[in-house]
Amino acid sequence: MSVHVIVLAAGQGKRMMSDLPKVAHLVAGRTLIGWVLEAVRPLQPASTVVVIGHGADRVRSVLPQDVVVAVQEEQLGTGDGTQVGLDAIPSFDPADTVVVLYGDMPLLTSGLIADLADLSSDAAARIVTAEFSDPSGYGRVVRDVEGQVVGIVEDGDCTTEQLLIAEINAGVYAFRAGALAESLQDVSNDNVQGEYYLTDVVGILVGKGDRLEVVKTSAQEVIGINSQDQLSEARKTLQQRTNQRLMESGVWMLDPDRTYVDDTVHVEPGARIYPGVYLEGSTSVAADARIGPDVFAVDSSIGRGSTVWYSVLRSAEVGEDCEVGPYASLRPGSVLEDGAKAGTFVETKNATLGEGAKASHLAYLGDVTVGARSNIGAGTITCNYDGHEKHSTEIGEDVFIGSATMLVAPVKIGDNAVTGAGSVITEDVSEGALAVERSEQIEIPGYADRREARKTATESKD
Ligand code: UD1
Ligand code: CA
Repeated sequence: MSVHVIVLAAGQGKRMMSDLPKVAHLVAGRTLIGWVLEAVRPLQPASTVVVIGHGADRVRSVLPQDVVVAVQEEQLGTGDGTQVGLDAIPSFDPADTVVVLYGDMPLLTSGLIADLADLSSDAAARIVTAEFSDPSGYGRVVRDVEGQVVGIVEDGDCTTEQLLIAEINAGVYAFRAGALAESLQDVSNDNVQGEYYLTDVVGILVGKGDRLEVVKTSAQEVIGINSQDQLSEARKTLQQRTNQRLMESGVWMLDPDRTYVDDTVHVEPGARIYPGVYLEGSTSVAADARIGPDVFAVDSSIGRGSTVWYSVLRSAEVGEDCEVGPYASLRPGSVLEDGAKAGTFVETKNATLGEGAKASHLAYLGDVTVGARSNIGAGTITCNYDGHEKHSTEIGEDVFIGSATMLVAPVKIGDNAVTGAGSVITEDVSEGALAVERSEQIEIPGYADRREARKTATESKD
């Protein structure tokens, strides 16, 4: 007996006030639909179908490869969407379980989904309900005098009495495949919205005398996102969960409320994170690294024992025991090998700093390789752009680049070479040589006295 999953995501999400289809919105590192699919993954479904419609291309582009995509051309309601999903399941047995959920519920946990999918052999469906202090907008769970669920009534179709019901339909269901397929045939669109409601299936099953099971859960877990405001609320909860998980594993955080780590980021136990840190995408942080305050890192790796503070890292690789910042910008293609340093106001791009190489302050290093142990003086610039093309600079090992050296690329500096401060280096420098490029200093004696005399002369004229 297999489990199949149908995720409904064909709606537009008008209330997001955005051109982006609702389920493609990002929150805490995943799209809304991404979170839902992540929660479903541990079930190891035989098939996962995502029903898309509005902004289909955009939604398709954020979906993983391993899901089946079904297009619902017209959004005739969740019942119709489920039918489209069912038709797209490659093959199923009537005894299989079909989990149906909506693509805008990022707070769903895999625990709840596992509970839900664990359908008793004699049950036709299992639904999830929660008590909401403000149930408006949701489908209400209607029970008979004995407390048995008799059906779900959508907000717009509720009687004034039913509107007072606090128990809502979460919008997550497990159905016996055969029972779902059969009862979907009986769903009509004779309601206020003129839609085919999936929720009608519940009443239809109960009417046939089929057994229905109910899982009650907390309101928080089943919140659906309809607006930017709710998206931001969900972000808080997801952030708390991620930070909680990291701290339980041994990550130190000074202030988790001001620490923003995507769920996709890997942080090793023993790492220390200060406030104002944003870790995004495929970023990883090794043990004993110290990150922050105020770091933005996306798709970057930070090695064991390194310190990164007040800095921005984009697709950068920082090795072990490195120092980055304060106020460094490591742009894509930046690689700091072990013990390297990109210090205060240092910008790197497509740059490799070899082991122990240091640029401690005020430098632009673009399209460059710096050999091990070389030192880049303050104010050094790789002039890599001639207005048309980018050129590269090669700096050997144990090189000393004097302060304010302009390295006009393409140019090579040999091992152990030295450049004089303020030099504009346009020619390659041989191994072990000193290259100085600047005019000789001249001295004009007694200049201060002459200046004073000139000043007195001008004043006496006034
Ligand atoms: C739905 C439930 C309601 C429940 C609530 C929980 C129905 C009829 N009602 O209401 O009982 O309390 O969710 O949040 O199911 N969709 C499609 N195709 C369609 C219509 C919708 O794929 O033709 C998708 C939407 O993209 C969305 C989901 O189904 O992800 C739910 O649709 P929505 O219109 O938001 O339903 P609600 O009114 O919120
Ligand atoms: Ca909804």
